[in-house]
Amino acid sequence: MTTAAPATAAALAEVRRAFPPERLVSGDPEKLEAYGRDESDLGVFPPDVAVLVESAEDVRTVFAIASRHRVPVVPVAARSGKSGGSLALRGGIAVSTERMNRILEVSPGDLVARVEPGVILAALQAEVERHGLFYPPDPNSLELCTLGGNVAENAGGPRALKYGVTREYVLGLTVVVPTGEILRLGHRSIKGVAGYDLTGLLVGSEGTLGIVTEVMVKLLPRPRHVATALVAFASVDAAARAVTRILTSGVIPRCLELMDDVALAAAAKTSPYRFPADAGAALILETDGNDEEQVFAELVRAAELVREDASGDVVVAQGEAQRRDVWETRRYLSVNLKTLHPLKLSEDVAVPRSRIPEMVAAAKAIGVRHGFTVATYGHAGDGNLHCNVLFDHPEERPRVDAAVGEILRAAVDLGGTITGEHGVGLAKRDFLEYEQGAEVVALERRIKAVFDPLGILNPGKIFPER
Ligand code: LAC
Ligand code: ZN
Repeated sequence: MTTAAPATAAALAEVRRAFPPERLVSGDPEKLEAYGRDESDLGVFPPDVAVLVESAEDVRTVFAIASRHRVPVVPVAARSGKSGGSLALRGGIAVSTERMNRILEVSPGDLVARVEPGVILAALQAEVERHGLFYPPDPNSLELCTLGGNVAENAGGPRALKYGVTREYVLGLTVVVPTGEILRLGHRSIKGVAGYDLTGLLVGSEGTLGIVTEVMVKLLPRPRHVATALVAFASVDAAARAVTRILTSGVIPRCLELMDDVALAAAAKTSPYRFPADAGAALILETDGNDEEQVFAELVRAAELVREDASGDVVVAQGEAQRRDVWETRRYLSVNLKTLHPLKLSEDVAVPRSRIPEMVAAAKAIGVRHGFTVATYGHAGDGNLHCNVLFDHPEERPRVDAAVGEILRAAVDLGGTITGEHGVGLAKRDFLEYEQGAEVVALERRIKAVFDPLGILNPGKIFPER
């Protein structure tokens, strides 16, 4: 074990006095490393201690100690993030919300739910569905990820095409800011325009402005019927054209997901669903609503629109089990791509919808130029593509980084963004200025300083190092 810096050692001593031992993870490097990992493949950055907080007051206590000693505080939850947002880059105190996992309320009358930040998304969805209600955001990590993490990253997912992302559902937050205030933001009503939209600012702030201790979300009535289809294409270019064709026709499916040839090859190895083996790409189309016939008719209409680009029949999932199989295959793609190459760097660029074919072509061409296979899949309906650069040896990493840099810049040059859903975190901080410009980034740094004048909360994230 390395010896902590004097400030850290003093802070640790105070943390040990403030919290009982069973609420702390410290001393054991292996256990601490578990708090220093996520799904970003950026490395392991363990904190010096993790505090398993149980209340806003606990978070306030941690901030007070950290402020006295100028020690970093990093919020962590499920550690399923993909941009390094929860990594303790400079050590310090990890604030883990894993114990704050109660669903406090589901109100069918007001169509809202209130939860603690450590609630697993799938658990909330199951609970609201028991009441005939619906919480749409559905990042593919939904069995693991928490509402607190979803708020921090403004999580998306396949259903965002029709229903929008986490920000559209967060009505209110309780948040503890580094200066110690426990703030209640937002409102229980659907509408509300008083003052600045600080709730909106906090959603997607990647754990750099405050630590959320309660989330109030808006719910919808659960659509009674869902229909899912799979369409194969000879090439990813044909599939990308089909996406644009559907979206400009007036049909908005609830999901429109793309998988290219490489993604299909990975899926073929593990999938419970048999995707066409020779396809160059496939689209998953899904519609929903309350009228069964209409839901099916919309699916058929979308499928007909793409028939001239498609290479085979449109396969409609028969029953719930087959639907689940299709989605399971899609959900685990990020993990399963590693069956093709042991290493990968996964991106989540987003471009205006009409530029999807160009973005796919650009990502592939960049891969070829650098000698790597690039898998593209993702939420094509949103223009949000996961470009995965696959590689075999850690020594190739600098070249991979160069390729990824080109992919990110290509997305911005097409009028898009470096991150559609995973956040900037540590992974993309060097590209933020390319997208937003120096003046916007300078303003964002000033906003950060208002919330966190000592710079103790999640340092090194979002903004390029000076
Ligand atoms: C997905 C994750 C990687 O869409 O965002 O699979
Ligand atoms: Zn995604």
